[in-house]
Amino acid sequence: MRLTDDERAMLDGAQGEAMQAAMDLLVRYGEVLGAERLVDTDNVCGANLFGSRHTMLCGSPEPDAVFSELSLDASSPVKVPPVRAQSYQLIGPMDTKRWDVQGVDEAERDAIMQSETFSAEHGIHLMNTCTPYQVGNVPVKGEHCAWMESSAVVYVNSVLGARTNVEGRESTGAAMLTGKIPYWGLHLEANRSATHHVRVRREISSDRDWGVLGYWVGEQVQEGIPVLEGITEVPNLVKLKHFGAAAASSGGVEMYHIPGVTAEARTVDEAYAGRAPAPVLEFGDDEYHATYDQLCGTARDRDVDLVMIGCPHATLGQVREVCRLLEGRRVHPDSALWVFTPRALRQVAEQNGYARALADAGAVLMSDTCPAIGQFLPKGTRVIATDSAKQVHYLPAIMNVQGWFGSLAECVDAATTGRWEGSGGR
Ligand code: F3S
Repeated sequence: MRLTDDERAMLDGAQGEAMQAAMDLLVRYGEVLGAERLVDTDNVCGANLFGSRHTMLCGSPEPDAVFSELSLDASSPVKVPPVRAQSYQLIGPMDTKRWDVQGVDEAERDAIMQSETFSAEHGIHLMNTCTPYQVGNVPVKGEHCAWMESSAVVYVNSVLGARTNVEGRESTGAAMLTGKIPYWGLHLEANRSATHHVRVRREISSDRDWGVLGYWVGEQVQEGIPVLEGITEVPNLVKLKHFGAAAASSGGVEMYHIPGVTAEARTVDEAYAGRAPAPVLEFGDDEYHATYDQLCGTARDRDVDLVMIGCPHATLGQVREVCRLLEGRRVHPDSALWVFTPRALRQVAEQNGYARALADAGAVLMSDTCPAIGQFLPKGTRVIATDSAKQVHYLPAIMNVQGWFGSLAECVDAATTGRWEGSGGR
């Protein structure tokens, strides 16, 4: 790999042990990937220091040692300096306010709060969300980034036209310190053109529709880049959030084109950028209903223990809509309703009275984490319901529960009646 003088100096240890470990990691990683060089980045989104509760419980409690081992793959602990790149902490294992609801004990809480202090002292912005693009980190078209979190990566590549691969905690840790990331994959113009052609033959309008479509597209194209035609209305942030998260879960989609909507290709031809067009994949009613049934494939019992909203983290509009749907109703005593939003939006939700409205109805507004990442559910939970194709893909597998998938209204109905009556639009 070709290195600049500055990069070579870091690798040789001229800027300290931590920079040396970070550059060594990036060079090893880049060489495996076939990258010829590194690229500058000033926008890095990486993991919470501990990543998950299990990591925290198994690892050393000393933050420099944890960062050295888990984020730099260093052979021995190094003193970690402040980050060089603008760096943002993604979602973590615990809600720093409602850790009691999660069932986190005080020792775990204290360790996570210590990790927050470590991140803040090192200049890592405590966004604590999987949707940094909702709360101030909105990269511009063509900007080279280093982001973890598949649902955020597919959003910024596609909707915003920024450039990032799905990075890991080690590469983002090293990128935070050095401001560098291997120049490969979706950083390169040549790798951003369409590989698959999806023709949508039914109306796609609700949030649920976009989740189902995304899940089907991901299964079809796996790690390819689809271009979609047949979309008849401009989807908003919530719909694109659901679509991308679902496509990244069932496959490994990191980028897609919807001409007229996404940032780069204005037409299907432009999406191919001179490549031979791919065979057309057709999405109609049969594909829709089969995918919906697949998403509810783990569910048998209709008594719902937990309804989870906010995967990826909810917008203020979604929080407000939950409040509206709950008006005059209460969460069923045998059920729970958890709504997850970014930490910064939770503060707005508190100012606007949404948090109070949710609490009055027996729901809980949470931030910083989610059940899949934090690996927590109310005690005894056997059946969950959610409006997120991504969450219903992961939670049954991770937490051994049954999962229903449906619209936001169906989910709130389930939370207030304790029963799932969703129909999948049939
Ligand atoms: Fe975010 Fe957790 Fe979903 S990280 S995208 S809420 S699985």
